[in-house]
Amino acid sequence: MTDAAKSRIYLATIAVLLLVIAAMAYKFIVAGSTEKGDDGRLAIILEPGERALMLREMREFVAGLQLVADALSRDDMPGVAKASRAMGTAKAHDVPVAMMGKLPLEFKTLALGTHREFDIIAADAEANGTPKHALAQLADVLQKCVACHASYQVKSTTGK
Ligand code: HEC
Repeated sequence: MTDAAKSRIYLATIAVLLLVIAAMAYKFIVAGSTEKGDDGRLAIILEPGERALMLREMREFVAGLQLVADALSRDDMPGVAKASRAMGTAKAHDVPVAMMGKLPLEFKTLALGTHREFDIIAADAEANGTPKHALAQLADVLQKCVACHASYQVKSTTGK
């Protein structure tokens, strides 16, 4: 084989490998593991344990919102800050990498945006923010809950 032929084969191999890497990166970072859900939403397909983790985190949101509402009703801004921070970005790090790869980019962006907004609510509450301001921020973040639920559902690999 001539040197020119060899280098063409090397280049072709490198090109194929780059394509494979790009396809894997696309799948892992952008597309995730999804199928069309039976109710028109996009279903994210997770292992049963991953689905349980996601739903547990969701229920923790409701529990956290209960604490925020209770603190707000007493104008207890440190209480608002504490409960909001518990729903902040620190929480997002609990998600295992393998599960991250199954979540579509838009979903991850919405999820991170939600956690970030709770960080901001906490920071504002600590910086002498009023209950009315916190309530407006809360109404805003709840729109993200609504938006995500309107677009996505979660199914486990065992079919449920
Ligand atoms: C990034 C997307 C996303 C965001 C943001 C989000 N959720 Fe969810 N949530 C989901 C998905 C997906 C499900 C599963 C829905 C399904 O399969 O029908 C779910 C389910 C739930 C459930 C049901 C839990 C269970 O045990 O079945 C509750 C409660 C919930 N979410 C509350 C919230 C609240 C409150 C917020 C906002 C503070 C929120 N979620 C924000 C995606 C999201």
